Amino acid sequence: MALTVLPDILEGAHKGIPVDKIRWGILATGNVAYNFTKALVAIPEAEVVAVASRRQETADAFADEFGIPKRYAAYEALALDPDIDIVYIATPHNLHHDNMLMCLQAGKHVLCEKSFTLNARQAEACIQLAREKRLFLMEAMWMRFFPAIAQVNAWLDDEKIGDIKLVQADFCIKIPFDAKHRVYNPATAGGALLDLGIYPISLTSMILGLENIQSVQSFAHIGPTGVDVLDSIILAYDSGASAMLSCGLQAYKPREAFIIGTAGYIKIHNIFFRPDTITLHPHGEEPQTLHLPFEGNGYVHEIREVHDCLRSDQLESQLMPLDETLAIMRLMDALRAQWGLVYPEEHT
Ligand SMILES: NC(=O)c1ccc[n+]([C@@H]2O[C@H](COP(=O)([O-])OP(=O)(O)OC[C@H]3O[C@@H](n4cnc5c(N)ncnc54)[C@H](OP(=O)(O)O)[C@@H]3O)[C@@H](O)[C@H]2O)c1
Repeated sequence: MALTVLPDILEGAHKGIPVDKIRWGILATGNVAYNFTKALVAIPEAEVVAVASRRQETADAFADEFGIPKRYAAYEALALDPDIDIVYIATPHNLHHDNMLMCLQAGKHVLCEKSFTLNARQAEACIQLAREKRLFLMEAMWMRFFPAIAQVNAWLDDEKIGDIKLVQADFCIKIPFDAKHRVYNPATAGGALLDLGIYPISLTSMILGLENIQSVQSFAHIGPTGVDVLDSIILAYDSGASAMLSCGLQAYKPREAFIIGTAGYIKIHNIFFRPDTITLHPHGEEPQTLHLPFEGNGYVHEIREVHDCLRSDQLESQLMPLDETLAIMRLMDALRAQWGLVYPEEHT
């Protein structure tokens, strides 16, 4: 379907922002690209125009599955396609920086998977270019957009648990060891931190911010391929609050997060993997458990935020702002500095 662009005289008009369908390009055809695209094709206001893969046959297979008309065997061809408004980047972490710069240079809005880049220096370059070119850019931290997380934020805004003293969150799963797997491979910036630790860190950032951290204490076990496989992190804030976080690739732990305040606590059940149940435990009162289902496979909420931003001429999301993405990358740089963990690309 052809793109309709608002005439300038209409309220909220912004050159190039579509009002009919928002036209997406999908860059890479791996696991998360599949799940994200499954959500995208079910949204009437989205049109998936093209997909790009390193190989024609994977691009074709992905395109056939979702009925995508254009399929490219090079990421650059997608970036240059004039019929695309926004590119969703779902490559390994080491490629995000180059992929984002390429798409932004070509004038595309960008939604890029977490972790945003390898390090803060790369993140800064991408954010700067997006701002210079007045293009939308967002880290695809899908957790932020779930209805259950919105309710947690509402409880916190209403000071239901008093002053927050502790955030405790873990993301530990078991991925069988395979030196060639993306998450164990230093060349693709694998490791627990960028793949999993980003979630409890992002949750902490959403709740406590990352500005007034007095002390960062952490330890990482480094596995046989040279990436971190089990990380323990403690953040101590000037306010007297702390965060105790962990992430790991070798053993499963139930994914629960606790936000503990002076007047009670909140439990987020199944955090980091489609949270839909939360419990408020105010001191001296009955706990209140809410089930707030997500739609479809959960990616729709993040996609709606992107669409809302594009249609309202916002170049970044208030729920996942770029300065916060940068602060998160800086914290992850500081953690890796404590562990002496440097990715191969950072040596050059
Ligand atoms: N938001 C979420 O729920 C979520 C979940 C999982 C992962 N992620 C994030 O999404 C990104 C991709 O993760 P994934 O699990 O989808 O990974 P994946 O299944 O390994 O897919 C990555 C894709 O990137 C492309 N690629 C380009 N160079 C590559 C290389 N050297 N090695 C491997 N793949 C390469 C490949 O697509 P082509 O062959 O088509 O070029 C590959 O299919 C990561 O940033 C990850 O942290 C997000």
